[in-house]
Amino acid sequence: MGLFLAFITLFLFLGSAQGQGNLAVGFYSRTCPNAERIVASVVQEAVLANPRMAAVLLRLHFHDCFIQGCDGSILIEGTGAEKHAFGHQGVDGYEVIEKAKAQLEAACRGVVSCADIVAMAARDSVALSKGPVYQVPTGRRDGRLSNLSFAADMPEVDESVQSFKAKFLQRGLSEKDLVVLSAAHTIGTTACFFMGHRLYNFPVFGSDPTINPAFLPELKRICPKDGDVNVRLAMDQASELIVDDRIFHNIRDGFAVLESDAKLYTDPITRAIIDSYLLDFIFKPSFANDFAESMVKMGRIDVKTGTQGEIRRICKSFN
Ligand code: HEM
Repeated sequence: MGLFLAFITLFLFLGSAQGQGNLAVGFYSRTCPNAERIVASVVQEAVLANPRMAAVLLRLHFHDCFIQGCDGSILIEGTGAEKHAFGHQGVDGYEVIEKAKAQLEAACRGVVSCADIVAMAARDSVALSKGPVYQVPTGRRDGRLSNLSFAADMPEVDESVQSFKAKFLQRGLSEKDLVVLSAAHTIGTTACFFMGHRLYNFPVFGSDPTINPAFLPELKRICPKDGDVNVRLAMDQASELIVDDRIFHNIRDGFAVLESDAKLYTDPITRAIIDSYLLDFIFKPSFANDFAESMVKMGRIDVKTGTQGEIRRICKSFN
């Protein structure tokens, strides 16, 4: 009987490791020992050639994870594919992922998933931007579904904080994760396309009254009414290439650029979380540690592991 129970336990354990296995740091250490190095070198080269790329790759991971989990579904090409959804407007970095994939296939065919490449590339982008250096658990498998309609509930810049909280909670992320991950806007730029509501169509006031009066004319100068919506502006004034907590100072002082970031300071709970990082106190929480922790958490959303999904040969198409 004892032997039988031990056998059943072993069977269940192996079954779960196959079908629903967990992610693990160093998942490819035996099957593709150079995997992390290959991704890091492709990302470094891309960021050196275009410093904007770090932010682009960080955002790509967020958009991948939020729809159907971190499964590379956003990478699939074709009419009606998820990447063309309105909520993924401006998302890019696909060619960097595909380049890393080509090198990984040459080094160890059919082993490293596109979803893991996206997660590693985001991690490397943060490190290259002087942000925290953290280990990313791997072992994700690539999804086999991609549809424009799946991305209908991506958070939009002009939604309420309640709605942001609900969308994050749905994916297992807390209010703190919402604040800390939104601080990813510490790097990168937004197109004026996303500024119209905040600058010219805001209810009652016309423009968002939380914008510091000294900043409003500057924002309107860069993004004039009926101007070119493709013009881009830094989201974290004076620190757009560095991952740091400066964005919280900017949000508190009315210098947030994105409406969604500014809104986080209008809700008592998310405001208190922002304020906790601004304390002049030796034991204040570490933004760097918390950011790394929330990134790892985001990277676990609905992952496919074991025998689920597939390992794509190229990232833009299913096998
Ligand atoms: C409430 C949630 C969020 C909203 C509404 C939001 C919205 C936006 C918008 C409108 C842009 C400008 C896009 C463009 O013009 O190309 C943007 C950029 C960006 N977002 Fe978010 N975002 C959110 C959360 C996040 C999270 C969780 C991350 C990553 C952890 C992230 C990372 C980025 C980055 C790095 C950029 C800059 C991209 C670039 O420079 O091309 N965002 N976001």
